[in-house]
Parts: sequence; C-alpha cells; structure tokens
Amino acid sequence: MPRIAYVNGRYIPHQSAQIHIEDRGFQFADGIYEVVALMDGELRDEVGHLDRLERSLGEIGIAMPMPRRVLQIAMREMVRRNRIKNGALYIQVSRGIAARDFKFPSPAVRPTLVMTLRHMTFDIPARKAAAKPVITVPDIRWKRRDIKSTALLGQVLAKQIAVNEGAAEAWMVDDDGFITEGASSNAWIIDAKGRLITRPAAHNAILKGVTRSALQALCKQEGIELVERAFTPKEAYKAREAFTSSATALIMPVSSIDGHKIGNGKIGPVTDKLYDLYMEYAMNPSRKEQKWNPR
Ligand code: PDD
Repeated sequence: MPRIAYVNGRYIPHQSAQIHIEDRGFQFADGIYEVVALMDGELRDEVGHLDRLERSLGEIGIAMPMPRRVLQIAMREMVRRNRIKNGALYIQVSRGIAARDFKFPSPAVRPTLVMTLRHMTFDIPARKAAAKPVITVPDIRWKRRDIKSTALLGQVLAKQIAVNEGAAEAWMVDDDGFITEGASSNAWIIDAKGRLITRPAAHNAILKGVTRSALQALCKQEGIELVERAFTPKEAYKAREAFTSSATALIMPVSSIDGHKIGNGKIGPVTDKLYDLYMEYAMNPSRKEQKWNPR
C-alpha cells in the first residue's frame, strides 16, 4: 500500500510528491502548519486544529487555500487513500511560489497546500508507563509563538540538544527565567499542594495547544484546580508531577527535569487521571468540540 501525499489538489505517491524550489515555505518558512492525530480512524479535535490553522493564516495574511469544508473533505480523502487508522495528519500552507523577495507577492499567488499522513500507534498503557526525561534550554524563538509557523529552527535546535542529552523533550526558558513550553508540546507541572500549573496562552509566549485547551476544559468540567501562571525550572524541579501535552505525544509523563527526579520518576496520580479523562474525550468524537463541523 503506497503512502499518498496531497499537493495542491492532487493525491500523489508520497515518494514523488514535490513542490517548487521557489515556494516561500521553502525559502522563508513563510507558512503555517497543523498536526492532527488520527485515532481509530477519526481525526481528533479536528475543529480546534482547523480553527487554529485559520487563525494562524489570518495573523500572517495568507488566505485559506480552500473553504474549510473542502479542506475537511480532502483530509478525509487522505485518510481513506492511505488506509491508515492511527497516525498523524500533517497539513502545511505556505504563501505560495514567487521569485525570492521578502515582501509578499503582489498580486497574491495561490497558497501551497501540502498534506502527509504518517502511521503511528497510540498504545496508551505503554505510553503511560514510559515517563521520560526533559531538559531545559534557552528559548531563542521569535515572539509570536501563538502562530503555528513552519519557522521551527529554534525548536529543531532545542529538540536536538534534548536528544543529545538523552531527553525526550526540551522545555524552553524565556529571558526572564520562566519556562514557556516544550519544543513541540505544552509544559505542565503539579506542585506540592497538588495544583496543576501551566503557562497562560495570553501574551503569545506559547502556542495555544489544542490538547492544552481540551485539558483545560476537562479540568473545569471535573473541578480540577488549574492555575495558569509561568513557573521557573527551579520550581519545576520540585514538582510532584510533570507532563507535556501535544496532539501526537498526547500526555507524556515526565520522569526528570535537568536530572532532577520528578515524584518517583513514574506517572503520578493527577497525570494518570488527566490521561484517562483526555482519552475518554479524544475517543468520543461525537462530542460537540470535535464534531465534523463544515462551515
Ligand atoms: N506540536 N507547543 C508547541 C511549540 C508545539 O509545536 C505544539 C505541537 C504544542 C502542542 O499543541 P497541540 O496540542 O495543538 O498539538 C505546543 C506539533 C505536535 C508538532 O509540531 O509536531
């Protein structure tokens, strides 16, 4: 079964899918992306990801390449053609192809839309059992982290430092000494009093994770206290529990931060509970937050 990619309206064998060398996504990272988890044949939190895609595109003045409803049909066609039930759907929209020039092409050119689908397993018991180390690194990124830009060099370098140090994720620290988020995830801790803490998404210091928003809503629904405030690595070292959240890593329990063991180095009770709540939510696509919602 060959993998199929989507490039500007065409479904193409993955290995021969191409875009032009003067695509602005390639030359300037002038584009936006989304990663949507496909679990049991359903695109999870599709509406949240499409809302964020539209918002990010709007923030940098790129038009949606097609109406949302048509994009949703193409997303489903990708799932159908790849015959994958579990994985990650990658969607990228760039400003399009134009001779290299910093300013926007005028008149505007057609945005480039690319999608790929990759198989992935979501073995939840195994994931829960695999708490992983994280390290901290300086956050060297640009200031509009609310925009899901394809300009990811800061994150690429952070993640490589983590890998070099045997860690699964890098938590980035801003110039004031506070953790912003992971290289490709949001960062959470549970303090000594059992309070769940994560950095606020206001002020654009972090990406407003779709998984984060789902967890936030679940906390509200379940009466779990959530404090949105920034925290330092020093505070995180003393946390009872810590985890990261993202569409593909879901909830990743953290075993240590910069070598400081968190709890007993395994998933803690609050993280475990949130994981169950999140999975119940994620595996129930009839919930209104996730529903097929063509506009
Ligand atoms: N990354 N923060 C950053 C910097 C991210 O790159 C991501 C996701 C998140 C979590 O967002 P969400 O819950 O919507 O996935 C937070 C994706 C998975 C990636 O780049 O592959």
